[in-house]
Amino acid sequence: MENFDVVVLGAGAAGMMCAIEAGKRGRRVLVVDHAKAPGEKIRISGGGRCNFTNQNTTPQNFLTSNPGFHISALRRYRPADFIAMVDRHGIAWHEKTLGQLFCDGSARQIVDMLVTEMRRAGVTLRLQTTVGAVRKTDAGFEVELGGTPVACGALVVASGGKSIPKMGATGLGYEIAREFGLPLTPTRPALVPLTFEIGLLDRLKPLAGVSTEARVSHGKTRFDEAMLFTHRGISGPAILQISSYWREGDEITVDMAPGVDVLAELKAGRTTQGKQGLATALSQHVPKRLAQTLVEQTGFTGTLGDAGDKVLKPLAAAVNAWRVKPVGSEGYRTAEVTLGGVDTRSLDSKTMEARDVAGLYFIGEVVDVTGWLGGYNFQWAWASGWCAGQAV
Ligand code: FDA
Repeated sequence: MENFDVVVLGAGAAGMMCAIEAGKRGRRVLVVDHAKAPGEKIRISGGGRCNFTNQNTTPQNFLTSNPGFHISALRRYRPADFIAMVDRHGIAWHEKTLGQLFCDGSARQIVDMLVTEMRRAGVTLRLQTTVGAVRKTDAGFEVELGGTPVACGALVVASGGKSIPKMGATGLGYEIAREFGLPLTPTRPALVPLTFEIGLLDRLKPLAGVSTEARVSHGKTRFDEAMLFTHRGISGPAILQISSYWREGDEITVDMAPGVDVLAELKAGRTTQGKQGLATALSQHVPKRLAQTLVEQTGFTGTLGDAGDKVLKPLAAAVNAWRVKPVGSEGYRTAEVTLGGVDTRSLDSKTMEARDVAGLYFIGEVVDVTGWLGGYNFQWAWASGWCAGQAV
């Protein structure tokens, strides 16, 4: 029977990083994936430019039911460590906004870099390989790969979350966790557009395609980023961020002119720009189509000078404090990540090894550590993969 020191299930971000590190330590490593190519999510990430890390990464940028678990890994492998690898490979990058680092060229450069590093570290990569039964043995594990059993001392589960099944996401990691008695926290789509009920959608139809800066809040959590009206509801970075906190039945509050007191501005404008149409006046603070739609919905057709407080107050509230209750999300079909997963209470925070199953490791998105939008999820994949790579 073929025998490796380490078998890694999943040639994604976390799996490849783990394999590189284990290979560099002289371990005989096999990485398997059922996909045709490694790192498919890296390839499509960041709109094809891969937001490969966030240089402002802190533990606060992550959601988990066990706060504190992820701190150690993030400290041991930092954004600067990944940037150093990117630089060694001569890949040009830039900061887009808020510490988010993207390739100047293409996300493929990151995939190629990882594949090159794996080759240099002597890692064997096997693609289009199905993963079958996993069995614990005295020496480690026996895994059925492509119908043939393979033995290994350490087994690393790096099979990702459930998002975008069309790209090969499966529940494999959760099944293995369950099989070995590891607890799971509930999973749900995150970093995902939110959807509206049909009546609200009908009223907001004219806004599909309109994008605006917004401050979106859910309880005490808030994000200041762009927001986009879609044919199904709302999307854009601010909404994807808040979707990780939102739950069915909850309301979110949207300020579509953050930092502008729209009521005060419109009231002041009554004397200085009273002859302006109300929509024109409002369009100084929000996109024109949004201004037109909101004013149309008040039923008021006069000038700003004619608009009384009774008209301006609800209009300004609709801009500065729009309270809306999404009905759902677009689900795993478009979600960037999966919230929840392998309960980190059952893992060692330094090595990612299961506390009760020697030699079994879980890294990356399959674990209940989920980052905000902005390169944090890859940083978690690199960091958790790197930590396991030192230990396997
Ligand atoms: P990942 O999903 O990368 O890898 C898992 C691997 O396991 C895959 O190759 C899969 O084929 C394989 N696999 C699954 N089931 C299997 C089975 N049954 N048998 C064999 N193989 C199996 N994050 C970020 O920080 N910056 C960004 O720019 C983006 N952009 C982005 C865009 C889009 C469209 C998506 C969907 C996601 C992002 N993300 C992101 C999130 C990021 O892609 C994600 O967090 C990481 O890829 C997670 O890395 P993992 O290695 O854990 O899983």
